[in-house]
Amino acid sequence: MAAAAGPRQKRKTVTVLFCDVTGSTALGERLDPESFRQVMRRYFDAARRVIEHHGGTVEKFIGDAVMAVFGVPVLHEDDALRAVRAAAGLCEQIAVLNRELEADFGASVSVRTGVNTGQVITGTEERLATGDAVNLAARLEQAAAPGEIIMGPQTWRLVRDAVTAEPLEPLRLKGKSLPVTAYRLLQVRSDMDPGIRLAGAPLVGRQGQLRVLGDAFANVVGERSCGLFTVLGTAGVGKSRLTAEFLRGIDARVLVGRCLSYGQGITYWPVVSIVKQLLDSEHGSADATELMGRDVKVAAAVNVLLGEQETVTSPREIAWAVRKLFESCAGPVPLLVVFDDLHWGEPTLLDLIEHIADFSRGAPIMILCLARPELLDWRQGWGGGKLNATTLLLEPLKPADTAALIEELVPEGSHLDPQLRERVQTNSAGNPLFVEEMLALLTESDGRGLIVPPTIQALLAARLDQLRPEERTVLECGSVEGQSFHQGAVQVMAPEEPDVPGWLMTLVQKDLVRPERAVLPGEDAFRFRHLLIRDAAYEALAKTDRAELHERFARWLEERDTGLVELDELAGYHLEQAFCYWCELGPAGDRARRLAVDAAAHLDAAGRRALDRVDIGAAVNLLERAETLLPPRQTNLALQESLIRGLGESGRFDDAIARADRIADESAAAGDRVGVLRARLAGMMWQAIVDPERELAELRTLVAEARPAVERDGDPAALATLEYAAGWVDYIPCRNVAAFAAFTRAMQYARRAGDLWFETSIRKMAAAAIYLGPTPRSEALQWITDAEAQSVTYQPELEWRKAAMLAELERFDEARSVLAASIGQMNERGLALSAAWAMQTAWEIEMLAGDDAASERNIRQGCEQLDRLGERAALSTSAGELAEALYALGRYEEAWQWAVRGLELGSSDDLATQVFSLGVQAKVLARRGETSAALTLAEQVDRLARTSDDPRNPGDTALYLAEIMYLSGNPTRAGKLVQRAIDLYKSKGAIAFAKRARRLTAQWASGTSPAST
Ligand SMILES: Nc1ncnc2c1ncn2[C@@H]1O[C@H](COP(=O)(O)OP(=O)(O)OP(=O)(O)O)[C@@H](O)[C@H]1O
Ligand SMILES: [Mg+2]
Repeated sequence: MAAAAGPRQKRKTVTVLFCDVTGSTALGERLDPESFRQVMRRYFDAARRVIEHHGGTVEKFIGDAVMAVFGVPVLHEDDALRAVRAAAGLCEQIAVLNRELEADFGASVSVRTGVNTGQVITGTEERLATGDAVNLAARLEQAAAPGEIIMGPQTWRLVRDAVTAEPLEPLRLKGKSLPVTAYRLLQVRSDMDPGIRLAGAPLVGRQGQLRVLGDAFANVVGERSCGLFTVLGTAGVGKSRLTAEFLRGIDARVLVGRCLSYGQGITYWPVVSIVKQLLDSEHGSADATELMGRDVKVAAAVNVLLGEQETVTSPREIAWAVRKLFESCAGPVPLLVVFDDLHWGEPTLLDLIEHIADFSRGAPIMILCLARPELLDWRQGWGGGKLNATTLLLEPLKPADTAALIEELVPEGSHLDPQLRERVQTNSAGNPLFVEEMLALLTESDGRGLIVPPTIQALLAARLDQLRPEERTVLECGSVEGQSFHQGAVQVMAPEEPDVPGWLMTLVQKDLVRPERAVLPGEDAFRFRHLLIRDAAYEALAKTDRAELHERFARWLEERDTGLVELDELAGYHLEQAFCYWCELGPAGDRARRLAVDAAAHLDAAGRRALDRVDIGAAVNLLERAETLLPPRQTNLALQESLIRGLGESGRFDDAIARADRIADESAAAGDRVGVLRARLAGMMWQAIVDPERELAELRTLVAEARPAVERDGDPAALATLEYAAGWVDYIPCRNVAAFAAFTRAMQYARRAGDLWFETSIRKMAAAAIYLGPTPRSEALQWITDAEAQSVTYQPELEWRKAAMLAELERFDEARSVLAASIGQMNERGLALSAAWAMQTAWEIEMLAGDDAASERNIRQGCEQLDRLGERAALSTSAGELAEALYALGRYEEAWQWAVRGLELGSSDDLATQVFSLGVQAKVLARRGETSAALTLAEQVDRLARTSDDPRNPGDTALYLAEIMYLSGNPTRAGKLVQRAIDLYKSKGAIAFAKRARRLTAQWASGTSPAST
């Protein structure tokens, strides 16, 4: 008795071939044993060769018999035909062998063959396949006469278009209650028979397009560069086919990813599948695997993508890491990456592709994107403005090509009514899918009384109507999962259907679906040959059935250990669909409500993971859908807080604020006071960030009001929101100590609430606060180093603050190298804005090191970059710093101009800009001899600087005042002010600033400026 199927065992439909040598006993008696063994060895060798040539696997030799299985380990769409061909091939080989045997030994052999298709269990320890289907194959073999090949009914059904065969008298077989109709094979028709449409018609036309693709590929290889190629065309016009033909003729490592038609929120689906291909232990790239082991940053981003590591990363980081993987393996063999159905891609995915196209250098990588033209509706500039991008519009077939295609597809010997031919030619409008489907319909229905449907949709519906009910059921169940689907899923959706695998095989034979690599381990998978076929099957389902089937599929996914990163997205989507259909059918009952709650839980989880990847667009989509599914008046506050933050982060401030208001109202109506406060805090945060001058006071009041209630309530998510808001209240007016403390608490609460993304974004703010605050530099440096260690992903903000702190501690060389490495990393990832911004640190390092020329060069470069990028907020401060640098070089008029620019760009609450720009103006006024104007201005800046708890600010302004005093002939006063500055700098351990103050004083005394030396 068979034990319960182990984990690696599975049911599969395979074709089994048995053949046995007849007359071997007699032969054995006539030959001496040694010669006999030799004869048999030759026979077995021939059998193995033929079977393997056709893609079968020899299971074993039992005495004189050979058993082979087709479909293990890999399923082919035409396994049955392969087995029959192998059987026929073996007979031919036997004939050859017999000629030799006759000559050598005066003996000959003949074989009896049985071929049968059916379900078996595979993956057991010692056998490739076991089950009834195997037994039947053996019985058929025993029933065959010498030289005969007998096929079981299922095999015959699958190959009948490709063979000539005759039915036998129903066979009564031992152990079988019903007689079996078997068939004797007479002939296998040639491979070229057009009646076998397994691979469609040969390509017609498209030679020009193939050439263009070939040239683009040759260019990529020749230049060792990256090229982006996009093929646009309507559904069914032949994009995927053109690509398949192109791929056949090139020598490259090919990776293919497809976007899901319901991919909203499933941003990385195609990338995940591509990366899995690349890292596959058998067929993947050793170089890519090696890179994963060597580079922790690449590994971290990729592992987040694959769901194997929980940490916060970002779309940039992921794009960079994927590019690194591509580059690592595109060396000796070029890499060709195909993104099919890109019109369904999420914006973040398109960004990833553009990043690779923009930044990849020195490696031959061709990215081939296939999309319907609507891609351009929402991504107008796709590929535009890139020297390495080409777009090809695939037009319908030319009339002559359409005619040629019709000719190819009409089975030889059959007649197509000229009028019908004309209608197909016209109605298809050059769409090859239409032509194919129309002719398939004609063949299947014998063309009786058939009209040509006007659209491809109507045509496909008509074609599905021709199917047997079982085939239809199987097809419709598959359509619920999507264009690709798993056999196991169909089985749970159609539990009453005893032979799902068999019907799938006939659908394969009708070329409606094709076997495909399964996404889920241990499963067989199929794919609709064309998505429009899937749509037609799905459309035909009643809504009640759709609701039912979506749910069954989702539950199946939930119960299986799929190991799928996108499990929540998928299960959430299908439960959501089920719920929506029930709602369309009538008021939601208990069952529908339970579906909604489960769907919301999945989508919520998926949304949170998207936040961890900072894939904000997807996160907002998923969380909003989760929200819609939850019962009204049952607000999930943690979800709402995430949504409000997500909306704000993606720049949709008004939406964030409006949502916060709505949630506050809802919570008020439900009598939930803490809820009201949480919602208001979340919304107010964004108001204060957008317009601090107006809203900060209100946020402060709100924080004070909310604190007792939220603390009493004790929910960590709520506390994180509260402390984060409290941090901002102190951060904006430069009370950095308090801000740092609040951010630190906020981080702890966010962690306790399990909100990684929030924790990471708060950490950035905490880093800013500790950098700007009075914390002794060595302590702050340690904090930053620890913070970096908390996450393996690259965090530019932390690195450049670390560089600045090192400089303040006079560790200039380290500072320079940390910053240079960090800028290198930013440029690698295309973070142009951050890299430009980081030039402020490059200025600070050289300014402190006393190299004024270098500091001017650095900050000027930063200003130019920011200007080019149209970034104003950062430019105002950089302009003030450039003014400082120019002043230090003695270029006072230019310094004045840049100070003016900084003030124009910066807002009045931007402390750094104000201090630098006004300070420079005050000093230039003093140089011009306008001492009292200079003093008034400098004192104004000094008052402003004292509002900050960063000692550096009043330190800087004391130094301005000192210089003005010195210039107006008051060295004693100047000396006191310098001392004040030094004391302030030293209070935060910024020894490099103190040194600089002494250096400047020495310069004033010697009457030199670097410009005049
Ligand atoms: N030039 C051609 N010669 C012969 N058959 C073709 C040709 N072009 C396309 N076909 C056939 O037409 C069918 C539809 O083509 P294909 O799947 O490539 O369309 P598509 O443009 O990728 O559509 P979609 O946008 O829906 O993905 C396929 O079965 C394909 O084999
Ligand atoms: Mg396609």
